[in-house]
Amino acid sequence: MPNDSRLGFGLLGTGLIAPFHAKAMQASNVARLVGASDLYSDRLAKFAAEFQCREYASLDEMLRDPEVQVVGILTPNHLHVEAALKAARAGKHVLVEKPPAMSLREMDAMQEAFATASVKIGVVLQCRTRRAVQAIRKAILEGRFGKILHADAYMKWFRSSEYYQSDAWRAQRRAGAGVTIQQAFHYIDLLQYLVGPVKRVRAQMNNLTHPTIPVEDTVLAFVTYQNGAQGVVQASTALWPGTDIRIEVNGEFGTAIMVGERMDTWKFKDDRPEDDEIRHFGSAAVATGATGAAALGFHDHQAVIEDMVAAIARGGEPMITLSSVRPTLEWALAMYQSAKLDADVMLPLANEQDVW
Ligand SMILES: NC(=O)c1ccc[n+]([C@@H]2O[C@H](COP(=O)([O-])OP(=O)(O)OC[C@H]3O[C@@H](n4cnc5c(N)ncnc54)[C@H](O)[C@@H]3O)[C@@H](O)[C@H]2O)c1
Repeated sequence: MPNDSRLGFGLLGTGLIAPFHAKAMQASNVARLVGASDLYSDRLAKFAAEFQCREYASLDEMLRDPEVQVVGILTPNHLHVEAALKAARAGKHVLVEKPPAMSLREMDAMQEAFATASVKIGVVLQCRTRRAVQAIRKAILEGRFGKILHADAYMKWFRSSEYYQSDAWRAQRRAGAGVTIQQAFHYIDLLQYLVGPVKRVRAQMNNLTHPTIPVEDTVLAFVTYQNGAQGVVQASTALWPGTDIRIEVNGEFGTAIMVGERMDTWKFKDDRPEDDEIRHFGSAAVATGATGAAALGFHDHQAVIEDMVAAIARGGEPMITLSSVRPTLEWALAMYQSAKLDADVMLPLANEQDVW
């Protein structure tokens, strides 16, 4: 049963991803949706009626509500920073959708603002919470793979032209459109979280089947990690009907493959009793976004929201910190620079002004 101590959330943006946050809170005993705001009043009214929450005419109005302790920022990618800085100045915690910002300079400004205001910021990169991902990370930290040799992400997804036309920002580079920074960001982040940081990137970008948008729907990249491992990122929204993502990690002594959110392969030379259970982590029945933006479960979002509540309650950092996402953004930006220059790009990025 929910109790009165549930932390109050206000959501900025009631578009495609907002219902996933709202459903996650409906299912949660520690978080509750207080209200929301959107530029489109009809969209906001429909959302507020469906999820029984307050309507705010603006972010300022939301920030004045003492029942809102955390602001969920669910606006287009390039608009996250301004809203986050405003929320920090108002003394509110923030949970920001991915990518948190479009440049490293903005990430650093956010980091500083939240430290100054003594409020927390967490990022919604919900795939990190999957049991299969956590198992792979634990095995890496325990050295079960030995030397990591390969770490790859394959995202063969489909998004229709209607999806790209549903909001103008989905076709604008500087607003954060393009498969690399928008969809593949989750899986670049998983590789970064598991095996990063990256030393060198070589990327190629194309638009295969969405001629009405001036951004890439496909990216292919070769990667060298700082630890010497190699990897591939292959991501597309052009590949109908869309199949589950694959994250593959191969080391001297073991291989792990996650498909969607399910552990597909888990094999180590030092087979352990707990391995049988790990082989059954996740479920093929849980949708993870392959066939359309709405083909997604909300439980990963719930885990991120509840982790944020726990961080606020216990006074620590949330699981997905801004600083842990900075190298992911740097890697994605390096991919854009590499594709533009048709050359290898070394990290850290020498000049992020010039990536697009
Ligand atoms: N974690 C995930 O799996 C996942 C999935 C989809 C989208 N996202 C992220 O969520 C964010 C939103 O994506 P979306 O697909 O829902 O976009 P969307 O365009 O469907 O919704 C964004 C909403 O923000 C509103 N908005 C824009 N500016 C505003 C402002 N100044 N004040 C209030 N509202 C404003 C728009 O009117 C729109 O309703 C993006 O950052 C995206 O990357 C994350």
